[in-house]
Formats: sequence, structure tokens, C-alpha cells
Amino acid sequence: MILLTMVTAFSIYLILIHASMLANSAMDPYKALNIILNPNGTLTRLSIPPQSPPSPDPSLPTPVLSKDLPINKFNHTWARIYLPHKALHHSPRPKLPLIVFYHGGGFIFDSPASIYSHDFCIRMTNATQSVVVSVDYRLAPEHRLPAAYEDSVEALHWIKASNDAWLRHADYSRCYLMGESAGGNIAYTVGLRAAAEVDKLKPLKIKGLILIQPFFGGRKRSPSEIRLAEKTIIPLLITDLIWKLSLPVGADRDHPYSNPTVNGGDKILDKFKVYGWRVAVFGCEGDVLVDRERELVKLLEQKGVHVVGKFYEGGRHGIFVGDPSMSVQVFRLLKTLH
Ligand SMILES: *[C@@H]1O[C@H](CO)[C@@H](O)[C@H](O)[C@H]1NC(C)=O
Ligand SMILES: *[C@@H]1O[C@H](CO)[C@@H](O)[C@H](O)[C@H]1NC(C)=O
Ligand SMILES: *[C@@H]1O[C@H](CO)[C@@H](O)[C@H](O)[C@H]1NC(C)=O
Repeated sequence: MILLTMVTAFSIYLILIHASMLANSAMDPYKALNIILNPNGTLTRLSIPPQSPPSPDPSLPTPVLSKDLPINKFNHTWARIYLPHKALHHSPRPKLPLIVFYHGGGFIFDSPASIYSHDFCIRMTNATQSVVVSVDYRLAPEHRLPAAYEDSVEALHWIKASNDAWLRHADYSRCYLMGESAGGNIAYTVGLRAAAEVDKLKPLKIKGLILIQPFFGGRKRSPSEIRLAEKTIIPLLITDLIWKLSLPVGADRDHPYSNPTVNGGDKILDKFKVYGWRVAVFGCEGDVLVDRERELVKLLEQKGVHVVGKFYEGGRHGIFVGDPSMSVQVFRLLKTLH
């Protein structure tokens, strides 16, 4: 019964919690995630998390409007745009900050339509009075990394060139990249790629990155991976499988896509400092990933980047998006940045 209640709130985390219940038995991570790897390399996903349609109709009394727009019809990518309803009635029209959001789901699940990310984006749009663009990217293993990164960078160029009326409410000079879990990894990598082409993105101007429990890995286990191995909702058998399904074929967890600290970190990080980008990393002690997130903060500090680590007691993976009382911490930080 508890699981049934949670499905409406968490989607992927239902699957992960299910996985953790099996963690102590001889766990088959495919079974735990309810997926089948087909001989042709595709994945059959047997648990599709609940989906939510957009609500674009301004005649309805909803505080936040949302709509879906295609980005790349060939690659079937799209975005869900969120606009505070009030913005339609203000005159003169105030320019709102722009948040580009990348959802989680281990690179292999979910989309902006998953209730889990949809509800979070609605709450964020309402609480921070921002324009939010939640990006759909291609999933692994059908499309391994860097496909998700390429789609996510393409989304920035699409926003820049778009004539969409809702996007005209956004202040392109106040753009933040945000992502949770695998989406936090994506937001980070999009940041690296965007830093290499800031001129091409103008007038879109990135001001910072908000990385919520970003999903990173490495060959050597971190102390929290060892400490929490038996207690986590994402056992290492699951995280290892996710990397195996999403990294380029033949790569291991010390690939720079999964381990940002290899070779002393990407050279382009120097640009984060030069451009004055602000970075926030959210994590909590109950999350198996917490020490990797700390390592990332340390790396950015060493590079002289303006970074803040927001770490909380207890908790678990997914809590900042799945639990509205913790989402508030993220919204609070956003308000100080705007
Ligand atoms: C791959 O195999 C699955 C399961 O047999 C099938 O449903 C799917 O259509 C196949 N996809 C391609 C691209 O061949
Ligand atoms: C679709 O994705 C592939 C692989 O990332 C890319 O090479 C291609 O240019 C994309 N297609 C279009 C029409 O942009
Ligand atoms: C939207 O924000 C208002 C004012 O802060 C709040 O009272 C309301 O509950 C919020 N609604 C949603 C759907 O988050």
C-alpha cells in the first residue's frame, strides 16, 4: 500500500525503492528495475511511471501554465515550458529568470511528462516566478551518452532561436541550468559545453548551475558508497548497471562523463570562474552519492569557481524533487540568486 501511494509522487523512485527491498537478496538489477535488455540492444521498460499532460489553457485558474513544444522532430526531442499564469496579465511585462531543467531517471527512464518532474517544475515556477523549460533528451541504452548531452545543449540553441510567446517572458541574461540525479550530471556537462561556446549562445547568458544530487560515479568506491551500500534505495548493483547501460560501449566508470574528477577535472572549468558562474550542489547524508557530490564541490573550489555545497542531514536520493518540504530549500536558494 505504501508503494502504491508513493507511485503518484515519485515514479522512478518507486522502482528504486522496490530495488532496495530486493537489495539484500541475490539481486538481479534488471529485475529490480523491471527492465529487459533485448538482444538488439534496446530496453523493454515494464514500469512506465505515471505521466501528466501539460495545462496550456489560460482560461483555467491554475497558477502555472505548461505546454509541450518539439525541439528536434528527427530525434523526437521536445520541451515542456512552464509560465507563471500571472505573467500573462502583468503590464508592463516583467522579465522573469529562466531555468532550464534536466530531469532524473538514471539516463534510462522518464521525461518531462513524468509526474515526478512535472510536479516539481510546477512548484518551482510558482514559488520562484520563473520561466522553466524542462528538456526531453534521448535515453540510453538506445541512445548512449553523449546523446543526452547533445540533445540538452541543442535545447539551449533552440531556446535562443525560439519565437515562442511564453519564452518572451524570460530574461535570457538570467539563465540557470538545473538538473536532478542523472539530470544533475547532464546540467554539469551542458555547463562544460556551453562554457566553450558562450558567444554562440548569445543572447542566452548562463549565470549558474544548480546541481541537485547529481549522479556521478568512479571505479573506486567512495566512502558513502561503502558506508551506505546496504541501506540505500539505489544499491551499487543498480548504479553500476545504469553506467553500463548509458556510458559509451567499452567505457568504465572513470570515463569523464561519470567521473568529473579524472585528470584533475575538465580544463574548461577555468571558464566557469572567468564568467562568474555560480554553482550550487545539493546533497544529503542519507544518499549513497553524497561523497561524490562533495568531491565535485572540492574540485570546483580548487578551480576557483564560486560554488556552494548545500548538504543536509538524513534524507535519501531524490528527496529534493520528490519531497515538497525539501524542494523549498532549492527554491529558497534560487530566490537569492535572482
Ligand atoms: C528490438 O527488440 C525488441 C524486442 O524484441 C523489439 O520490440 C524492438 O522493436 C526491436 N527494435 C529494433 C530497433 O529492432
Ligand atoms: C540526431 O541525433 C544525432 C546523434 O546525436 C545527430 O548526429 C543528428 O544530427 C541529430 N539529427 C538532427 C536532425 O539534428
Ligand atoms: C503557488 O504559490 C502561492 C503563493 O506563494 C501558494 O499559495 C500556492 O499554494 C502555490 N500553488 C502551487 C500549486 O504550488
